[in-house]
Amino acid sequence: MLNQKDISAQYLSSHDRLTEPLDELWQNISPLYCIRESIWLKQLLRLSQPTEVEAQQAITLTTQFIERVRADKKAVHMIDALLLEYSLDTREGVLLMCLAEALMRVPDKATADALIRDKLSVADWQSHLKSSDSLFVNASTWGLMLTGKVINYDQRENTSPTKALNSLVTKFSEPVIRQAMHQAMKIMGHQFVLGRDINEALKNAETPRSQGFSYSFDMLGEAALTSTDAQKYYDDYFNAISELAKFKSKKATGPEPSISIKLSALHPRYEAANEERVLTELFETVLALLQHAREQNVAITIDAEEADRLEISLKLFAKLYQDDSIKGWGKFGLVVQAYSKRALPVITWLAALAKQQGNCIPMRLVKGAYWDTELKLAQQHGHEDYPVYTRKEATDVSYLACARLLLSDHIRGCIFPQFASHNAQTIAAIASMASHQDFEFQRLHGMGDALYHHAKNLLNYDVRIYAPVGSHKDLLPYLVRRLLENGANSSFVHRLVDARCPVDELTEHPVDTLRSRSSLPNPRIMSPPKIFGKQRKNSKGLACDIESEWLPFKQQVDCFLKDHVWHAHSIIGGAQQPGQSHPVIAPYDHKITVG
Ligand code: FAD
Ligand code: 2OP
Repeated sequence: MLNQKDISAQYLSSHDRLTEPLDELWQNISPLYCIRESIWLKQLLRLSQPTEVEAQQAITLTTQFIERVRADKKAVHMIDALLLEYSLDTREGVLLMCLAEALMRVPDKATADALIRDKLSVADWQSHLKSSDSLFVNASTWGLMLTGKVINYDQRENTSPTKALNSLVTKFSEPVIRQAMHQAMKIMGHQFVLGRDINEALKNAETPRSQGFSYSFDMLGEAALTSTDAQKYYDDYFNAISELAKFKSKKATGPEPSISIKLSALHPRYEAANEERVLTELFETVLALLQHAREQNVAITIDAEEADRLEISLKLFAKLYQDDSIKGWGKFGLVVQAYSKRALPVITWLAALAKQQGNCIPMRLVKGAYWDTELKLAQQHGHEDYPVYTRKEATDVSYLACARLLLSDHIRGCIFPQFASHNAQTIAAIASMASHQDFEFQRLHGMGDALYHHAKNLLNYDVRIYAPVGSHKDLLPYLVRRLLENGANSSFVHRLVDARCPVDELTEHPVDTLRSRSSLPNPRIMSPPKIFGKQRKNSKGLACDIESEWLPFKQQVDCFLKDHVWHAHSIIGGAQQPGQSHPVIAPYDHKITVG
């Protein structure tokens, strides 16, 4: 177990840790699942605390980035401007996104125009009022995805969504709205997707590649519900690997491109409850992709998804990484999310895995794209606390603590760090901590272009662009995550394009920001048991996907079942009735006799 008194010594200076048995290091991960922020962040603050020199360098560099980006006329994308104008905290912003989301599902132009006309023509609008539910089923679906934001909006405005939409229509003229809709659609499609297929994406990547940027192509698609879906996504990845290997860039000057994959796209039952199937069926599927990728010399990264899948994803990763056909390759990597309270011990465990096998693991460090979902799920499942931090600056602090670990001498060579962020302060803080250049930065296609253009000029680090490839149909979940990220007024990108936000606020080190708060956890976000306030305590649930929560419970159940046999009989007039007895078998396992 972790000695929580001095984690700096444990994490940063010990070479021996990486030779400890993997099983022992594994034991450090799960117990941090929903550790109290007030305890754990104190430790992370020590790790991410910059030296005076680092702090000064980070401020100078962040200021340079911000000034250059703000002076750059081409830096602000249409989407940034749109999300600033129609921020997700505003009524109009949510409504525009609702309509745009509905429009995304419309397959052809004529029907799309008809939908806009229908929604926006005043006469039809009146008749729509009665059947408005259908539109706002979409709105509330969207709202659920936006979690608390829409709930707040409903309560605050105290206005029905139809009234609000009506007033939006009268406020702006119809053609303006139509134009905005089309613009939003166009932006959504083009801003975030590099190409409809891998060949188009490869062509579109040529100019940035000639400027030294590299790519990780992501075939859009996730959360397969059927094996037919999973097979389709498998074919997309397989084909993308082949095409990427065939394509000979005429202009590329940077590192070789790679492919990013999502495990949820490859199996409809990618969940801890189906560990056996994940470690056999999904294992075979991913192994086949990896063997193909190794033959073609195309690096593969596994994206990180929901927190409940972390442990099962690590078990699967280790099994794949230790397979004879993958050993020694060094181009099979994965993503770690810094908003997860478990991030730091995960990195140590992975570094030990790499060291003990003797070949490097490329690791992308991100903050995490599922924050809203994680909060909602923990509340819905009645967990003790959240698996993620509740203040943005806490996630930033954790990110920098993980970065310090990844840049430390004893990890060098075991892990190849890939720092993915669009936050100028984060990039500058990493540059100020690094004593070598054995890492790269990453950004998403359609985000952070100007920032990395200037950062590359100033620092000359390798930069890789994560580029989604595919059709509108598969874009939606990815798009929602990007809109949430950019629409949130705490997001760095949002504040960077908002000229009213002073530079000093943007250069502040997250360690200082977090220390200046009255409490380490965010008091405005109730812990899951307290979400109903004084009304009642939230019902308690068990995090079955988390070893440290599940195993003690299972042990107690096993113990109870071992010694306990149920006997049931009729009782009439208080007296037990004689009769024939027969065994009762557990419905989930016919080998178990319950009574
Ligand atoms: P910032 O504005 O500095 O940070 C925003 C982030 O802070 C949010 O995304 C959230 O993580 C966190 N945050 C916001 N509010 C709070 C709060 N109240 N409490 C705690 N934390 C908060 N994400 C994945 O999950 N899996 C991936 O595989 C993945 N791959 C990526 C690949 C690349 C190349 C890039 C650039 C990003 C990837 N991401 C992935 C997305 C990444 O997690 C987000 O882009 C990132 O979180 C935004 O961070 P930032 O430093 O750019 O912005
Ligand atoms: C996502 O799909 C980029 O992997 C990240 O949101």
